[in-house]
Amino acid sequence: MAPNLILISLFLCSFMAASSAGNFYQDFDLIWGDHRAKILSGGSLLTLSLDQASGSGFQSKRQYLFGRIDMQLKLVAGNSAGTVTAYYLSSEGPNRDEIDFEFLGNLSGDPYIVHTNVYTQGKADREQQFYLWFDPTKDFHTYSFLWNPQRIIFLVDNIPIRVFDNGESYGVPFPKRQPMKLYSSLWNADQWATKGGLVKTDWSKAPFTAFYRNFKANACVWSKGSSSCANNKNNAWQTQGLDANSRRRLRWVQKYFMIYNYCSDLKRFPEGRPRECRRSRF
Ligand SMILES: *[C@@H]1O[C@H](CO)[C@@H](O)[C@H](O)[C@H]1NC(C)=O
Repeated sequence: MAPNLILISLFLCSFMAASSAGNFYQDFDLIWGDHRAKILSGGSLLTLSLDQASGSGFQSKRQYLFGRIDMQLKLVAGNSAGTVTAYYLSSEGPNRDEIDFEFLGNLSGDPYIVHTNVYTQGKADREQQFYLWFDPTKDFHTYSFLWNPQRIIFLVDNIPIRVFDNGESYGVPFPKRQPMKLYSSLWNADQWATKGGLVKTDWSKAPFTAFYRNFKANACVWSKGSSSCANNKNNAWQTQGLDANSRRRLRWVQKYFMIYNYCSDLKRFPEGRPRECRRSRF
């Protein structure tokens, strides 16, 4: 083979290996909304859309038990009031565990709310909400779950916005036995989503579309009753916590962008705040 050809085929091989790492055809099933959910560009792009008849959604083929899961999302642009893009990990069956991002749309130019929650054994009521420090409809940004036996960290562009510690030692259940799939859906929630339900969806702007790319799971995959973790150089997440720098960034987000924290909502918990709120510094 001529040197040029060798170079070209080397290039093609590495390109194929890289792109198969996050191929939506391989990793996801479209589960709701017929043609409204689409995989495009040879598997490197996924779109969900919502019109007056239906929303749409997808789920991962695999189940995970701990991992670091990254995805880039570009949210519904323009007047997205009334729409909700949910992006979450969830187990199946009763007493489920769930780790949620939900993006609540807004009128053009008004800020999205990033709503987060953690369910353990079917119980949630642990909402924290944030504004973002950028417009999430202009470009793709990375939203990540870091989930290891010690804690769950929610990250936006690698900046931690929320930490949920394993509080089993003080009686708070932690998700660690039920494998979870990754889900996303785009749906209409104009009864409550925007300004508490005051602003309704403007269907003349439909269909509404959200975009997904660069899915990456450094995770332990569950299969036939046991989980196996990739053994590679990317598994720092298995013990990762917050170093001084990420604590500083978390404080910055919580100081300037957090708009609701269940732990500070005293009137909601007349019997006393949840245990994890009394323990955690965040
Ligand atoms: C929408 O914008 C208003 C400000 O105009 C803000 O109060 C609200 O938090 C924003 N987000 C949602 C989802 O309502």
